[in-house]
Amino acid sequence: MFLLVRRAAAVIAAGVMVSGFAVNGGASAQTSAPGEAGALQAATLREAAEAKGVFVGAAVNNGRLGDGTYSSIASTQFSSVTAENAMKWDATEPSRGSFNYSGGDRLVEFARANDQQVYGHTLVWHSQLPSWVSNGGLSAGDLRNAMNNHITNLANHYEGSVAYWDVVNEAFDEDGSRRDNSVFQRTLGDGYIAEAFRTADAADPNAKLCINDYNIEGINAKSDGLYNLVRSLLSQGVPIDCVGFQSHLILDQIPSSFQANLQRFADLGLELIITELDIRMRLPADAAKLERQGQQFASVTRTCLAVSACAGITVWGVSDRDSWVPGTFPGEGAATLYDENLRPKPAFNGMLTALGGTTGPGPDPDPASCTANYTVTDRWNSGSVVRVTVTTGASLSGWTVTFALPAGSVTGSWNAQVGQSGTAVTATNASHNSTVAVGGSFSFGFQTNSGATYTPPTVSLNGTACAPA
Ligand code: XIL
Repeated sequence: MFLLVRRAAAVIAAGVMVSGFAVNGGASAQTSAPGEAGALQAATLREAAEAKGVFVGAAVNNGRLGDGTYSSIASTQFSSVTAENAMKWDATEPSRGSFNYSGGDRLVEFARANDQQVYGHTLVWHSQLPSWVSNGGLSAGDLRNAMNNHITNLANHYEGSVAYWDVVNEAFDEDGSRRDNSVFQRTLGDGYIAEAFRTADAADPNAKLCINDYNIEGINAKSDGLYNLVRSLLSQGVPIDCVGFQSHLILDQIPSSFQANLQRFADLGLELIITELDIRMRLPADAAKLERQGQQFASVTRTCLAVSACAGITVWGVSDRDSWVPGTFPGEGAATLYDENLRPKPAFNGMLTALGGTTGPGPDPDPASCTANYTVTDRWNSGSVVRVTVTTGASLSGWTVTFALPAGSVTGSWNAQVGQSGTAVTATNASHNSTVAVGGSFSFGFQTNSGATYTPPTVSLNGTACAPA
């Protein structure tokens, strides 16, 4: 019963706080029927997610908000934000009893300005603790007071601003037992989890309260341990609303039991959130890996959509430049939706398409369409300079442009490798311009040894003839 009451309250609070944010299972803003011919289709993750009744979030690093491209992606593509670090214990209560909310408040402001939900992360975690908590020097009674005081202060301060809290983070070891390197587990024993939820509920009865962990996406010993804990908390009347599946995944290793696992938690009456999604790969990335990553982002997105209790997906970091992966898993990276230059990757298109959106201009765009501009920018007796600009209707991770050169031979090129056989010219991407988003364009140039005038040839992109632009 308390669950229904808590949830109803949370839905109302979210509706007041965040206009345009649709809670899953509530009235969702169905502005168009995605995929229907002639329908206005969503071009951003945020619009597409909203039409499906889920949120799409990003972990935001305050230090990057001064970068205009970063903040514009963070605000236009996402309907939810999570503080990557700013609401953690070491940031918010570095010394006992003195609270610093500056980083979290900045993010709340950003979210408010952009009509976004804030997902609170995290109240009780063994990691990123200030040393006065982590050094094990506090007695059980004292640590208990410190934990409850920390929860109460944060939940009170952010009441009305935060829609969800990760109350307890990473409580389990891989074998499904309680994590033994947590100062809370070691000092307070199993009971600290129920206590943390009760304290958070008393401080903010409207926020949805989650337990969050990693390597619990598939059915395995760890997710079994969590499942049994959550069931027991519910049977004791502990106010828990949701389970966060961090989903720090590895390319080509998406657990096949992901959906079945989400469903068993949903069957307990809980909301589910994919809280920290990234899909890492061994570096260097290449076109084939990025393409598979796109399919796997799409598949995780479809998994959430297939379970009605799955309320949203947050990706951990806006771009590969911001991601925690390379610093944590040496030799791995490229785990997010945007590349290091903040250009959308196939992963972005995969997620958007799975949400029913499209980046094409207008309804039902031809994904293979392209336009090309072939211009002779300079010409003299025995030579010419040509610039080719291609705009693509599909996302590219590597491209080949072909055309028949009407006169002369290619003697040099830039921004592409250009080869010639007879009149047939083939240009392939350079390493810096291989990735192009849907609707994006690229240019390259070359020089010839002929000054003849001619009608521009038809240019093809990856085998498809492009309309002249
Ligand atoms: C990571 C941040 O991304 C890093 O910037 C920080 O140095 C360490 O923590 N699980 C969590 C997140 O719950 O808080 C972690 O975030 C990633 C793993």
